[in-house]
Order: sequence, then C-alpha cells, then structure tokens
Amino acid sequence: MMPTTPDTPGDPSARTRTAGRSAVRTLLRLWPYVRPVRARLFTAAFVAVVASCTGLVIPLVLKWMVDGPVAGRDPAGVWLGALYLLLLGVAEAVLFGLRRWLVARPLSHVEAEMRAGLYRHLQRLPVAFHDRWASGQLLSRGTTDLMLLRQFLAFPLTFLLVNGVTILVGVGVMLLQDWTLGLVILGPAVPVVVMCALFEKRYASVARLAQDQVGDLTTVVEESVLGIRIIKGFGRHRSQARAFHGLSHTLRGTELRKARLLASIWAVIMTLPEMAIGAALVVGAVQVADGSLSAGTLVAFLSTALALRWPVESIGFLLAMSQEAATATERYFEVMDEQPEQPGPALAAPAGSAKGGARRVGSGAGGDGGLRFENVSFRYPDAPPDSPPLLDRVDLHIRPGESLALVGATGSGKTTLTSLVPRLHEVTSGRITLDGADITALSREELRAMVAVAFEEPTLFSASVGDNVLMGAGDDAGQDELERALSVAQAGFAHALPQGTATQVGEQGLSLSGGQRQRLALARAVVGRPRFLVLDDPLSALDVHTEAAVEAALRQVLARTTALIVAHRPSTVLLADRVALLSDGRITAVGTHHELLRGNAEYAHLMAGAPAREEEDDDR
Ligand SMILES: Nc1ncnc2c1ncn2[C@@H]1O[C@H](COP(=O)(O)OP(=O)(O)OP(=O)(O)O)[C@@H](O)[C@H]1O
Ligand SMILES: [Mg+2]
Repeated sequence: MMPTTPDTPGDPSARTRTAGRSAVRTLLRLWPYVRPVRARLFTAAFVAVVASCTGLVIPLVLKWMVDGPVAGRDPAGVWLGALYLLLLGVAEAVLFGLRRWLVARPLSHVEAEMRAGLYRHLQRLPVAFHDRWASGQLLSRGTTDLMLLRQFLAFPLTFLLVNGVTILVGVGVMLLQDWTLGLVILGPAVPVVVMCALFEKRYASVARLAQDQVGDLTTVVEESVLGIRIIKGFGRHRSQARAFHGLSHTLRGTELRKARLLASIWAVIMTLPEMAIGAALVVGAVQVADGSLSAGTLVAFLSTALALRWPVESIGFLLAMSQEAATATERYFEVMDEQPEQPGPALAAPAGSAKGGARRVGSGAGGDGGLRFENVSFRYPDAPPDSPPLLDRVDLHIRPGESLALVGATGSGKTTLTSLVPRLHEVTSGRITLDGADITALSREELRAMVAVAFEEPTLFSASVGDNVLMGAGDDAGQDELERALSVAQAGFAHALPQGTATQVGEQGLSLSGGQRQRLALARAVVGRPRFLVLDDPLSALDVHTEAAVEAALRQVLARTTALIVAHRPSTVLLADRVALLSDGRITAVGTHHELLRGNAEYAHLMAGAPAREEEDDDR
C-alpha cells in the first residue's frame, strides 16, 4: 500500500456542515463531561468574578482619595488610601491564583475522560467505519482537538463570563459616576459588537478548515512512518516530502488567514475604545474646568475605563478560542455520534462468562451443527447501490469437525467471506449460523469466543510475543496454553528470541520476519481452542519445510475444530476435507480436491502449476 495524499479524510460531509450551526449549542454538548467537575468550575468562575470586581473598587478608592485627603492636604489620609489600594491589589492577585488552582486538576480529568471515551468508542465502531475514516483524522481528534477543549474550559469559558460581568459592572459604575461621560464611552460598543458577530462567523469556517488540515497532515505523517520501507524501497521520499510540504503549506496559509482575521478584529477592539477614552478625557476635562464635575470623579471614571481595557480587548481572542473549541467539539462528536456495533441481543451471557455462554448455545444443536452460510449476499457499504453484490446468495455448509478450504481467484471475495463470520462486516442479506445459532443472535463476546481468526496480513501489536499470542485466549489462559499454541504453529523460534516469549515485538511486529509473524498470528488463532477457526491463507509466507511442519501440527488442531481455510496452494487445500470454489460471487463447486481437479476447469486452472501430492491426500 503506497502512502498517498488523502484528499477526502474522514467524513466527507463534515466539512460542509460547519455553516449554520451555533457555537453555543455545539459547546453545550460538552456538559455531560464537565458535569462531574461543575462545582469546582462554578466556584472558580465565581472567585474570578469577585477578583475582577475587586479591581473595579480601586477607582472608587482613588476618587475618595482625590476628592478627600488629597484635596484637603491630609497626608495620613493619603497613606490610609494607599494601604487600601495595596490590600485590594493583593486580594485580587490571591483570588486569581485561587481560581487557577481550582480549575487545573478537574480539567485535566475532563480531558482524560473525553479521550478515554473516544478511544473506547473507536474500539467499538464497526470495521466499515474504519474503512471510511483516515487514521490521521481520528488521531488529531484525540490529541489536538481535545487539547483545544481543555484550554477552552480552563480559560476562555471562565473569562468570557468574568469579563462580561466585569464590563457590565464597570459600565454601570461609569454611568453612575457621570452618565454623559458614560454614553461617550459606550458609543463605540455598537460597531464593536457588529464586528465581533461578523468575525465569529468567518473565523468558524477557517478554524474548521485548519483543524481538518491538521488531520490530513497527521495522516500523511502516520502513513509515511508506517510505510517507510516502501517509501525507501521505491525511492519515493522526495515525492512524499513534496506531498507533506504541500499540505503543511496549505495549513500555514489557513493559519495565516486565521491570524489576519484575528488581527483585524483586534484592531477594531483596540482602536475604538481607545478613541472613546480619549473623547471622554476631553469632555471630562472641560466639565472639571467648568466646575460641573469633581476631579476625583473624573479620575475614578478614567481609571474605571482603563481597568475595563483588558476585559474588552480580550474579547477578540476569547471569541476566537471559543470558536476553535466549538469546532473541536464538533469534530469530536462527529466520531462519537457514529453508531457502534450492536452488542447483540439480551440473551447474551453476563460479561466475563462469554465462553460458558458459547457452550450453552452450542449444546443440542443436532444435525444443524457446524458453520452454515444460508443464501448470504454481501456488498460493501460504500459500493454503489446498483453494482452487483460481491457475494451473491452463497450457500455453504461446513459440518461439525470438518475443515473446508475456500479457493477462488484473487479479488473474488474470499477474505470478505471470512470476515463475515466474526461479524467484522454485516451480511447484506441471508444468514450465517454456528451450530444452528444465527450469529446475529449471539452477543459479540459469545461469537468471538467461538470463532478465532487469522488474517492474510498477520497484525501484531507493540507488546511481548507471549501477550500477542495470548490475546486470542480468555484472561485465564497462561503459560501452558501459550506453549501449546506455539508448538502447534511451529513458532518455537519465540523461545530463541533474546528474552524468550517476553521479548517485545516492534510496532506492528515489523522486527519479525513475515513467516514468524504469520506463525504467531496462527498461534493466536489456536490458543483459545476455538470451536470454529477461520484462517485466511495462513501459510502463504512460510518456506516449504516450515510449511510442512505447520501443516502437520495444524492437522491435529483441525481434527478438533470446524474450520474455514482460505487457500491458494494445493498443499494448503490438502489440509481440508473438502474444497469450495468461489467464482463471480457464488460458490460454483464443492467437493474433494481431486473431484474438483478432475471435474472443474476453473479449479484445475487455479491449482495448475503446482500439482497436488497424491500421497498426502491418501493420509485422510
Ligand atoms: N473494505 C472494503 N471496501 C470496499 N471494497 C472492498 C473492501 N475490501 C475489499 N474490497 C473489494 O472486494 C473485492 C474482494 O476482496 P477480497 O479481499 O475479499 O478478495 P480475496 O478473494 O480475498 O482476494 P485475495 O486472494 O487477493 O486475497 C475486491 O475487489 C476489493 O476491491
Ligand atoms: Mg484475501
């Protein structure tokens, strides 16, 4: 898989949805996560409002000083006033510190909860969702977007409230001091509010664009790190770097647009109030000269206006941050709103006893046992609705204890067929039964305890070899099961690794050879002694000798399970009791290897080039 530049990451409709939604309504969706810490958050907001209003008392003390002790030349009064001012300043600082302390811990809790929620949800979303969404888009939602949300809850949320209250109280104080001067100050408020509204709308769409582009960029980085071998092998590092550069250039352009928008609103918010203060100063000075206004009132008025400068100026970037948070919330919930896999019906066994439940379903199934496909049709959800189904009315019965090989040309839908059994994809019509029980009537736990799978691409995780294998078993499986599975899969090499089965495999198991990975995946499939085994071409990467050894061991496993094995080579086919041929979405022939070899031209053609070894077939 050559890493490509994704042009439609994530949900394609998402980018057009931004317009016409209200930031407030979007942000309200955060409430369930904020609820547990609401007491602290409200206390913090209250403390901040008190702190901010404490600051507004300072001008009143100034007024008292100017009109009282200063006018009356009373040094002791001035010192007293200074002391008051000092105390007020200290109180303000202490209260703001208290606010910070109050919010820090609960908010990191909110962020962690949201991230855990996202991760949990991603695990439960169907494979069809993951087929559709670029991984970088999911990654950026779990990182950048959640960070934006935490910052929003910590800062802009509180300060929009605090500054709003402060501005209201401040304006009230100014109007009480002198209402003509107050009106002069309030004049520019109207254009500022209009500008803010316009700004918000435009900023919303640019912010969304920027966050989506971060997702695109993450996808490219992720793909090129995972595909580094291909990139180097084909000497594609230049074109890959170009793709990255192109995307980061686009992102930079978007960020610059954000900065320009922010700069323009900032200019308006800074300039207009500044001019209003200048005008008030002139009008006020004239009134003081006339004797219609006391000097103390003018001082108080102007220092109130100056104290309001920060709350007013901050509105611009507080709005910007809130807008980004709204976008992040939107992106977060786009994923959270996706329907997870249905857990299955209520007859499900209580969690933890899935295996017991599976046995219960299996008992008394009678002649209807085994793995049965009944009239199964399937089309990928993203395929055009008028296209022919990939699997068309497939009927197949694998009797209990039997193993059936599935053969078909490449791209005929073998992997797709196998993925229907553990319900990685849902059948479009028809049904699949395990020992008579419809797989849709089983809970996911029951189903996945009954069926074990090994896919063509053996996926390993960054964990120890032992843990990778034991993933296929219940929590109670231990060293004995591990040993048995490793010997079945001929994966004895694990003991020769530096730390034996405790050796960590690198990301995706890339530190192991293809055949080693395949054998570990096989061990994982058999470790839980599943009653049904689905193997997608499990031996393709093994050399002839290892293959023979794995086959010999696998034959013992297959004797005790019901198995569906996708096979490309006669040697794998010969592991199975019977063979089914998949062609044009239908099962066109079922029989033994030799029957089909003689009677079916397509099968003979698929198996040509490597004639079957007679003596092995005679074993059974
Ligand atoms: N997630 C998917 N979404 C849409 N189409 C898919 C998806 N996976 C596979 N297909 C299509 O379904 C068809 C069958 O794919 P499948 O992987 O089942 O073939 P296969 O028989 O396993 O082939 P091979 O022998 O090469 O492994 C292919 O044409 C492929 O393009
Ligand atoms: Mg396949």
